Amino acid sequence: MSNDVKYGLAGVIADDTAVSKVMPETNSLTYRGYAVQDLATACQFEDVAYLIWHRELPTEAQRAEFKSLERSERGLSQNAHALLQMLNNDAHPMDTLRTVVSFIGQEDGTTEDSSPEGLYAKSVRMMAKIPEIIAVDYRRRQGKGPIPPDASLDFCENFFNMCFGEVPAPEVVKCFDISMTLYAEHSFNASTFTGRVIASTTSDIYSAVTGAIGALKGPLHGGANEAVMHMLEEVGEPSNAKAWMLDALENKKKIMGFGHRVYRSGDSRVPTMTDAFQKMVEIMDTPEAKKYWEMSRILDDTMVDAKGIYPNLDFPAGPAYYLMGFDIPTFTPIFVMSRITGWTAHIMEQAADNKLIRPLSNYVGSEQRSVEGAA
Ligand code: COA
Repeated sequence: MSNDVKYGLAGVIADDTAVSKVMPETNSLTYRGYAVQDLATACQFEDVAYLIWHRELPTEAQRAEFKSLERSERGLSQNAHALLQMLNNDAHPMDTLRTVVSFIGQEDGTTEDSSPEGLYAKSVRMMAKIPEIIAVDYRRRQGKGPIPPDASLDFCENFFNMCFGEVPAPEVVKCFDISMTLYAEHSFNASTFTGRVIASTTSDIYSAVTGAIGALKGPLHGGANEAVMHMLEEVGEPSNAKAWMLDALENKKKIMGFGHRVYRSGDSRVPTMTDAFQKMVEIMDTPEAKKYWEMSRILDDTMVDAKGIYPNLDFPAGPAYYLMGFDIPTFTPIFVMSRITGWTAHIMEQAADNKLIRPLSNYVGSEQRSVEGAA
């Protein structure tokens, strides 16, 4: 270990950004200057996407225009559908999504257009098409045929309809919409930084997003929302929760859905998502919903008491998605549906004022030696 190396780039400020600001000292997060909890409760995800890309919340007219643009970009080509049917049913949906996004980039005749207008058009296109990829894949894994997008429905409603053939209660849609806003953007996290690194080579936006999807898949990043749900299933009952957590900590297990590289005393997004999860549980009023709510409260309290490590957004989001009816492997692709907005805003920001990202390394291998005489 060398003192000159910033392992994991921890604490390194790599560039300027005007997209979002993470303030760990106050556990707060703003998108373009607006507090994320205010955006989540007062706005729809489409407004937040507009804000992230255009730097301002939309007027009524801009909102209508943006919604109609997103709706007009929905729909996958026949070839994309054919590709989806060819892909392995047992593959993780993040692998499927990564493959199909890459295919759409290969299919899109404007992939090499990296003008600001060209990047924006492709960003909206990906926002509009990614939910259908996830929904078609979700249904095909269950042996069911696709449900086409419905241009009369809003973004979140359309996603539910493409997955389940119906739109749930407004409170459930709102809980999902809140999660979309909270997941949308988070400064230089691993996947966003991956996207920026790829964009910095002046490669195309689909390549950058494909790479970002790969980075998000890992359980130390986006994959944690799935891992949380596996943990809750393993715990089984609220009555087991405290003992399970204490035992896991005793055995030095990493507890999924807790801890954060930047926030050390609480993730700014968690109270809003936890409230939305609780409201949804109250509306559902089922023994299963109550069970996951109670279990997560006990795990949270036990972890905070025992280690002073707080939950991150994946902790309430995982069980919320599960109760909405999604299978566990769909959780991280849902994160992509939202984070595509933040990723592409950063890719556009990188392209607008680009400097190739190329750090140095601290060499720790063999001293220079000669091939001559080597076996
Ligand atoms: N469970 C148990 N202990 C944890 C923990 C967790 N989820 N997160 C951090 N810690 C402990 C570490 O064991 C370490 O303890 P030590 O100093 O005694 O060795 C200390 O807290 C610092 O953790 P570290 O892993 O070095 O912090 P980091 O900044 O590198 O890691 C995460 C941040 C997010 C990768 C880490 O907290 C983690 O793996 N969390 C679980 C996965 C997750 O929820 N990811 C989603 C992030 S939004």
